[in-house]
Amino acid sequence: MENKAGEGKQCIPLLTPYKMGNFQLSHRVVLAPLTRQRSYGNVPQPHAILYYSQRTTKGGLLIAEATVISDTAQGYKDTPGIWTKEQVEAWKPIVNAVHAKGGIFFSQIWHVGRVSNKDFQPNGQDPISSTDKPLKPQIHADGAVAQFKPPRRLTIDEIPQIVNDFRLAARNAIEAGFDGVEIHGAHGYLIDQFMKDQVNDRTDQYGGSLENRCRFALEIVEAVVNEIGADRVGIRLSPFANYMDSRDSNPSALGLYMVESLNKHGIAYCHMIEPRMKTAWEKFECPESLVLMRKAFKGTFMAGGGYDRGDGNKAVVEDRADLVAYGRLFLANPDLPRRFELDAPLNKYNRETFYTSDPVVGYTDYPFLENTA
Ligand SMILES: Cc1cc2nc3c(=O)[nH]c(=O)nc-3n(C[C@H](O)[C@H](O)[C@H](O)COP(=O)(O)O)c2cc1C
Repeated sequence: MENKAGEGKQCIPLLTPYKMGNFQLSHRVVLAPLTRQRSYGNVPQPHAILYYSQRTTKGGLLIAEATVISDTAQGYKDTPGIWTKEQVEAWKPIVNAVHAKGGIFFSQIWHVGRVSNKDFQPNGQDPISSTDKPLKPQIHADGAVAQFKPPRRLTIDEIPQIVNDFRLAARNAIEAGFDGVEIHGAHGYLIDQFMKDQVNDRTDQYGGSLENRCRFALEIVEAVVNEIGADRVGIRLSPFANYMDSRDSNPSALGLYMVESLNKHGIAYCHMIEPRMKTAWEKFECPESLVLMRKAFKGTFMAGGGYDRGDGNKAVVEDRADLVAYGRLFLANPDLPRRFELDAPLNKYNRETFYTSDPVVGYTDYPFLENTA
């Protein structure tokens, strides 16, 4: 590092450079994928240019908000898509803005499975899943209770179509200019609904054994790798999480099976949610850890969930993660890496505006350090 600020960064583990395959990252503070529900009619909007470029640093890795891969994949209002030409075109200026500032930008590709209802489905059809077991009503961040229609269990013949939708979404992401994709295999959405034994009740080759439950996820990985190249593919997994009634009786075995299988594909990174994030919003002390999975995985390992500055530095020093993803802190602090560098105070996030649709409020109006009185 040539400059003075650079020398200082060497002392802060999170701010040391890291080479992720072909990507030279200048630090390890990653923007976690954050759904913001401001892509009206599933089309990314120009206000996202400012939002993402605010959070871009030269050589920093950003993961875009979960992005819907097809017309059956949506479960929340105004989440962006990447299956139509219009959506791909709308992403381009956003990706260009991130690249103009030297950022590395991955798209998180997403199918919600049964976390949907007829309002979001083509022709009001039932949502699809690994199962026909309904999801219990869920309480949203704003306190509203979301109800779900019982899903329709995918037949074996339909599964290749969904795998193909992930492949096409990855191709579209590259067409839009993204550097790669993160397959959303976490948080109780479709891929997780196949992996977790408390949801998946199939008796065919996609249910039962670990090998069978992980087959769908790994078919998607293979298809996406074949389409865009392994060096552009990451995956997010949350074996320990219970969101959306998606629980597994042996999360360590599930996580280990997945990372060992992923090793065969040589993907860029595996992104795992810390076991302490048993629910979406709270941290719990727990004896489990990701260390076994981190050790077993041969690529870049990214950890996320409940990290602060000290904790993230510790994870890097102790070699428990190569990269650390920050969600709520990065949402509220567009200049988070800079604040970590200076050990500056942080803005507090406002939960009430996480998912509101205003193009500015709670979105691009969190102050930078220079502007904080
Ligand atoms: C507003 C909001 C939106 C989120 N959207 C996504 C998403 O689109 N995809 C995803 O994998 N996780 C999503 N998450 C989870 C975050 O990426 C992250 O894992 C979680 O907030 C825990 O990390 P943190 O303690 O650093 O915030 C979201 C979280 C929040 C607060």
